[in-house]
Amino acid sequence: MSTTPTKPTAATTASTRPPTVERLPVTIPALAEHKRRGEPLVMITCYDYPSARIAEEANVDLVLVGDTAAMTVLGYDSTVPVTVDELLVLVKAVRRGMRSPLLVGDLPFGSYEVSNEQAIATAQRFVKEGGCDAVKLEGGGVMIDRARAIAATGIPVVGHVGLTPQTATAVGGFKAQARTAERAQQVIEDARALEQAGCCLLVFEAIPAPVAALAMAHLQIPVIGIGAGAATDGQVLVWHDLLGLFEWGSPRFVKRYAELRPRILRAIEAYASEVRGRRFPSAEYTYSIDPDELAELQARLAAADSARDAAQPSGSP
Ligand code: KIV
Repeated sequence: MSTTPTKPTAATTASTRPPTVERLPVTIPALAEHKRRGEPLVMITCYDYPSARIAEEANVDLVLVGDTAAMTVLGYDSTVPVTVDELLVLVKAVRRGMRSPLLVGDLPFGSYEVSNEQAIATAQRFVKEGGCDAVKLEGGGVMIDRARAIAATGIPVVGHVGLTPQTATAVGGFKAQARTAERAQQVIEDARALEQAGCCLLVFEAIPAPVAALAMAHLQIPVIGIGAGAATDGQVLVWHDLLGLFEWGSPRFVKRYAELRPRILRAIEAYASEVRGRRFPSAEYTYSIDPDELAELQARLAAADSARDAAQPSGSP
């Protein structure tokens, strides 16, 4: 057997290494403690194992496997079509990649609205099969009952108000919400009702910063904002938005901390060009074999060929 040292590949490293950072798991009481101490909470979406490993190493506090996966990784036009089974595959991969951030799974459209029983059953799948620490659902109104029902079974629930992408059509599309006093009051009342229903955390999406700031004064539980200004207890961004992985623009509230798409594109183009030009793989990326072993292999092959020729009936093609 060759003793040439092997370069670790994604396959060999990923399958054998546990997450690298040892940190105590972030708990629900720890979120409240962050709020009490005025320490902002950091949340990011993840949809796969490598991103979860990075989130862990970057010390984020919460990871959301959002139903944005529908658009960011599954290529749907909206979050509506994604199913529980599709999201659970991603949730499990994320769970395998991290230990300490609190893992929140998004209940997808159609998986919790019909009844409290449906909501509980779906939430239980996210906890039992996916290993989630909490589940998130969107909206106020009847969803407050769903949140209460899930929370009553002991599963931590995260509410989500403001822009609720699963029902974006009903609220006028993907645009900022709560921009009139009446709509803003509704959002704040929904948030308070979700808190009363037992939610442990809220997400405010795409609402004016002053509205979010006013709402904060009426809430005890931590609130994570996305496009809701700086007054919330923390922030969440979508992985692909933060890293600049799409060629199209991002919503106003997204700060792109990197522009990875052009870099990835250049890397793939370079790889394609080197393969086509026979410059990859060069010697450094190949395995060697002891010359004696190679010589013996050639001798064995030659002997096997001769034996085959000798065994062939004469006259056969
Ligand atoms: O699905 C998602 O990623 C979300 C965030 C935008 C908060 O709900």
